[in-house]
Amino acid sequence: MSRHRHRLAAVLVLLLVLLCPPPPCAADPDDERCLSHLHESFTSASAGGGGATGLLNWTKPAISAPCEGFTSRLQGVTCNNGRVYKLSLPGLALGGAIPPELSNCTNLQTLDLSANALSGAIPPQLSGLLNLAVLNLSANALDGAIPRDLAACAYLNVIDLHANRLTGPIPDELGLLVRLSAFDVSYNRLSGPVPVLLANRTGGAPRFNASSFVGNKGLYGYPLPPRRTRGLSVLAIVGIGLGSGLLSLVLSFSAVCLWLRATDRTASATTPGGDEGKISHLMPDY
Ligand SMILES: *[C@@H]1O[C@H](CO)[C@@H](O)[C@H](O)[C@H]1NC(C)=O
Ligand SMILES: *[C@@H]1O[C@H](CO)[C@@H](O)[C@H](O)[C@H]1NC(C)=O
Ligand SMILES: *[C@@H]1O[C@H](CO)[C@@H](O)[C@H](O)[C@H]1NC(C)=O
Ligand SMILES: *[C@@H]1O[C@H](CO)[C@@H](O)[C@H](O)[C@H]1NC(C)=O
Ligand SMILES: *[C@@H]1O[C@H](CO)[C@@H](O)[C@H](O)[C@H]1NC(C)=O
Repeated sequence: MSRHRHRLAAVLVLLLVLLCPPPPCAADPDDERCLSHLHESFTSASAGGGGATGLLNWTKPAISAPCEGFTSRLQGVTCNNGRVYKLSLPGLALGGAIPPELSNCTNLQTLDLSANALSGAIPPQLSGLLNLAVLNLSANALDGAIPRDLAACAYLNVIDLHANRLTGPIPDELGLLVRLSAFDVSYNRLSGPVPVLLANRTGGAPRFNASSFVGNKGLYGYPLPPRRTRGLSVLAIVGIGLGSGLLSLVLSFSAVCLWLRATDRTASATTPGGDEGKISHLMPDY
């Protein structure tokens, strides 16, 4: 009796497993959450917003099952073994903000949203993407600070944030990312010193040269020029003032001396003989 039941249960489980092969049923709920938030958050400059991204095949059913093994129907999505591992949507006129739920795509290795019109801040939650190797958010309108939490993504090879509106300092912690081979934060509104660990390798050779940092008025320090302080320019103005004062003093003094010599000469010329050279004895010869 109970043996029968056990056998029946085993057969049912086997049937379920057979009827439900991994790819279609293994739609990852995290990936689905990630992509549906992305779809809601992004807008298209050409489609007029309202969640209309204009992205091909980004439909509700396709988003709820984004991966079929190694392939995806969703434009810009690449899968690896049933999980989203690459999101590559550069140059598609996407607007809107990057949703924090993007961190739900926990197997993501490449995130390329470059050359769009994305605005708002870079969500610090992206630090939850522990497999992330490539982060390219360049050429958008992103503002706010560079999240220091990104240093938690230990596999990061590429951080390209150039041509945005990012403010604040470059977090020192990013210098601890040992795999970093490309780093570009040029043409933002960043300020403060360039982190030593990003600029200098232990040998002293530049790890990332000035081209990684240019175009940020407030950034300073090697490989950029040192800080231009206001104190220095005040000092220069004082110096110039003192110098020109001294120069005019010297000039007027020499003018007086020349005038004295001239009057001395005319005086000795008008009185020939007698007292000749009386005054010139008192004055040193020039
Ligand atoms: C959209 O889906 C169709 C049908 O599955 C497919 O043929 C097409 O390649 C997909 N488009 C993209 C950009 O993946
Ligand atoms: C999805 O992302 C949000 C925002 O980062 C986070 O609060 C939430 O815990 C994530 N969900 C899961 C299941 O990881
Ligand atoms: C990031 O994307 C931009 C524009 O798509 C591209 O030109 C640049 O080479 C990429 N950065 C890296 C480090 O690959
Ligand atoms: C970085 O290296 C350069 C070149 O060797 C050196 O001049 C500079 O002082 C170093 N900067 C720091 C902060 O160590
Ligand atoms: C700066 O480094 C990049 C590679 O990271 C290289 O292509 C470029 O030529 C370098 N520029 C200078 C001035 O050294």
